Parts: sequence; structure tokens; C-alpha cells
Amino acid sequence: MPGRPGLTLIESAPGPNKRFTAGAGGHSLAAMDTDLTFRADLAALAWQMELGADVALGETPVNRYETVAAGAPAVPPFAVARPAAAAPAAAAGPDSAVAVRAATEAAAQAHSLEALRGALAAFEHCEVKRGAKSLVFADGLPGAQVMVVGEAPGRDEDLAGRPFVGRAGQLLDRMFAAIGLSRTAQDPVQALYITNVMVWRPPQNRDPTPDEVAMMLPFLQRHIALADPKVIVVMGNTPLSALLGVRGITRLRGQWNEALGKPVLPMVHPAYLLRNPVAKREAWADLLSLKAHLRTRS
Ligand code: URA
Repeated sequence: MPGRPGLTLIESAPGPNKRFTAGAGGHSLAAMDTDLTFRADLAALAWQMELGADVALGETPVNRYETVAAGAPAVPPFAVARPAAAAPAAAAGPDSAVAVRAATEAAAQAHSLEALRGALAAFEHCEVKRGAKSLVFADGLPGAQVMVVGEAPGRDEDLAGRPFVGRAGQLLDRMFAAIGLSRTAQDPVQALYITNVMVWRPPQNRDPTPDEVAMMLPFLQRHIALADPKVIVVMGNTPLSALLGVRGITRLRGQWNEALGKPVLPMVHPAYLLRNPVAKREAWADLLSLKAHLRTRS
């Protein structure tokens, strides 16, 4: 705030030039729902502090959702929807085409999440699988309103057999807790369901290649159909390119799109946020956009 040294204000979403203030006592935050649990309040506070909030500015919380409702649209209109990417398969060589066909057939025959996990376990066309300890399928509540799609497991995930359990995953948990969502929640409204494009850890944590993404895509599409979330959050370039056929996550983050008939919100990957803490402000804006979307459409 101009003329008030020592104060840290953080822009809130959606829309530019909107701000929230941390409430007195470090407990209540203006953009927070009154119905958030105490745990979620604490997580939200931790997240604000991570963003740089260091002082309470107001005695009275301000409900920015109402501000948004009265002013700018809560959720920006969808950009022109692109079909879920078929492009990587088309660009792939003959071996890859065989793998994509096999993946498409195997995925189509899976009529439950367990069957899909089994189909992946039996899939032998992906070299990455050979170097991995675990098949990292998913975590959270199938049927949750929000499904998060990340890139690929790292070392921690390979060891645990669950996605997003390392440092980036812990940040992911804090981020979503700040808007009242958790992978451990049992209520679909508050729950998260989490997976990755690639279900095995690539060597040296490299990005999955376009061929690998192409052969994972039929499984991912089936995974989304079976889990049937209301909203998909893609974190990072790999799921962005897999589901929307484009790259440029730092440019496209926060812009709602559509894939497989579902709203898709691109966000930067939490590992990027660990390396670039300044980008947390925009991630917070995206989380608020997600929260507003869930509210207005549920
Ligand atoms: N990064 C991802 O994209 N997924 C994980 O599961 C872990 C780190």
C-alpha cells in the first residue's frame, strides 16, 4: 500500500488490482470463507505467510467473492477450446503408433479405476516403466469435484507409489488446503483426486517425451472419464500439452479452457513455485479463481 512501509499486500483473484488483507490476530483472512474449518484457516494463513503477508491490515474481513460477484465476472470466459491433444500421436514414429494403439485399446477396455490401474500395470510399451519401482496411479478421492493432473512421479513418489508426496506435493497440499480442498477429504466437494500424465518415474526426473505422452494419453483420458471430476487442474506444461495441445504454462496459467467436455484450469507446477516464489501470487489468484468457479457452478 503506498505510503505504508512495512506492509505487504497480496493481490487476490480473479481480476487485476484486487487485494485482500490479512485479518487482525492473524486468524481471519478476508478472502476466506467463514465456513472453512479451523485447519483450513490455519493452512490458508500459512499459505498467505508463504506469499509474504506479514501484517494484519484490517479489523474487518472483506469478502472479495462478493466484490467479484458485484463487479467483474468471477471466472474469465473460456478461451477457444482445443480438442484433447491427438497431435503427439500423429507426430510419433511407427513404434510409437503401435504403442498408442495398444494404449487406446487397453484403456477402452477398462471399466473401473481398478481395471485401469491393472491395464497400466500390464502395459509393456513404455520404456520408462522398466526403470521405475512403482506404478504411481493416483491419490485422493475418486469422484472428487477437482482432479489435479501433474507431470510425472519423482523419486519420492516412486518410493511411496503415490503422486505428489515430495516437497512439491507438500506445497500442493498447502495450496489447495488454503481453499478448503484436500486429498484426504471424504466429501467430494472438499476432496481432491490427483494423478499424473506419466505414471512411472522417468530417469533422472526428465520430462516425458512427446511419444511417451502420446502413449499415456489414452490412459489419462480414460482416467478422467472414470473419475469424472467437475473440474480439471493441469499443473505444468506436460499435462497442459497432453490435454490441450499447447505449451506455455506461465503464459496460459489462470486461463480457463476445456478438454473432454470439462473445464480445465492451467496452473504452474508447485515445483516451479518452489524455485520461483514470486509466482506464488499468481498461483493464489488461480486458486481463488478455482474456488469461485466451484462456488458459482455447484
Ligand atoms: N511432480 C509431478 O508432476 N507429479 C508428482 O507426482 C510429483 C512431482
